Amino acid sequence: MAGPKHILAIDQGTTSTRAIVFDADAQPVATAQTEFAQHYPHPGWVEHDPEDIWRDALATARDAIAQSGVGAAGIAGIGITNQRETVVVWDRATGETIHNAIVWQDRRTADLCSRLKREGHEPAVRAKTGLLLDPYFSATKLAWILDHVDGARLRAERGELAFGTIDSFLLWRLTGGAVHATDVTNASRTLLYDIHAQHWDPELCALFDVPMALLPAVHDNSHIFGHTADGLFDAAIPVAGIAGDQQAALFGQACFETGMAKSTYGTGCFMLLNTGEQAVASGNRLLTTPAYRLNGRITYALEGSIFIAGGAVKWLRDGIGVITHARETNDMATQVPDSHGVFMVPAFVGLGAPHWDPDARGAIFGLTLGTTQAHLARAALEAVGYQTMDLADAMIADGGAPPAMIRVDGGMAANDWLCQFLADMLNVPVERPRHLETTALGAAFHAGLATGVWPDLDALARTWVRGDCFEPRMGPAARATLVAGWHAALAKTLTGPR
Ligand code: G3P
Repeated sequence: MAGPKHILAIDQGTTSTRAIVFDADAQPVATAQTEFAQHYPHPGWVEHDPEDIWRDALATARDAIAQSGVGAAGIAGIGITNQRETVVVWDRATGETIHNAIVWQDRRTADLCSRLKREGHEPAVRAKTGLLLDPYFSATKLAWILDHVDGARLRAERGELAFGTIDSFLLWRLTGGAVHATDVTNASRTLLYDIHAQHWDPELCALFDVPMALLPAVHDNSHIFGHTADGLFDAAIPVAGIAGDQQAALFGQACFETGMAKSTYGTGCFMLLNTGEQAVASGNRLLTTPAYRLNGRITYALEGSIFIAGGAVKWLRDGIGVITHARETNDMATQVPDSHGVFMVPAFVGLGAPHWDPDARGAIFGLTLGTTQAHLARAALEAVGYQTMDLADAMIADGGAPPAMIRVDGGMAANDWLCQFLADMLNVPVERPRHLETTALGAAFHAGLATGVWPDLDALARTWVRGDCFEPRMGPAARATLVAGWHAALAKTLTGPR
């Protein structure tokens, strides 16, 4: 078939925005990336300026298209993937946002979540949404904005305002305000969407005090959502795919079979296990979540969500100046034979799965006068491995067979030392694809399916190329000693039930 064959993926993450143009062989041919400001107005609060996000998304998209040399007319479609759960509210008439975006890491609604839990709402919420009552998810943050911005609740009830996760906000801006929609993976992270019946749930909206007039339409991941507005690019481009970043990474890793798992290392770490058409209810406080929906057919995943992975390395760099570049941690961890008894519990924004403790805060144990910067760096990387191991154990306890191997991706997966430690802690081979940008690739896959660049999942799976494989090497005794040290540190950090 003639016609454009390149796809532009916009990957709007927690700390950076990037745009990548992929060719029909799923090879990245042009990349643009920029970091943006984080706002911490109070301890435990995290905000983004939505205008920064829109500015960077547009600029990186234009830059990547220019670098690719194919021009806007050579782009068959745009795929959007995004940090999930983060909340934006805007005025439908003007397109102006009414508050900063409240980011998924923000803990300001912890008290409301624990009240709802005490009132006994969690089992019903869990049954419909696959989630838990935690400030991580969108609903309580959305209600917070309606309650704290003058007149917002009344305007929301009158239908004057729109709510969206970042994908939805970018789609609105890209289409010049013509389309207010999202996809099933992003909708499923709000606490307002019934993942079995697949619709916004009026009872959940009532529970969280969210007027339904705010909510976007929900579509399959591969879908022509709309076209870019005049003046944004040299030609109108269809927005043809949307997926939350972790589900996009699962898709980009070609984990299409039941039992395949991936773990992505960005700001946080998110492990997803494909469970096929079955929405597996976790007995171990993992999340049940749609992985993708194509032609109305949904595939589910079990998810373990760790809030801080690369975020701890960023803190070593920006918070306390122990390193200048994230990549230095690889060599620092290799320089020392062990962490010298140091354990870091990176609960900077509470702890996610399987503990769900929004009040826990970060801690470092075992400091002595012999502790060096290298030990701190190693402890930060080790914490990523221990947390991933806890997720894998919870998945196995939920009845999943231990995965035969795990595919890793995300910026931090470039760290060889970390990949080896993961293989040792999980005791399974860790496979790293040749291209680590699988999140963007997953969004590109969705857009490419909708626009005919790729015919089906088999064609996508054939593009996946293994880069390195890390085999487990550590003996059981050494592993058990480390794991015991980690669990002791973790036990001292948890705050107990609220
Ligand atoms: O659920 C939050 C997640 O989507 C954020 O991903 O890659 O920005 O850490 P990342």
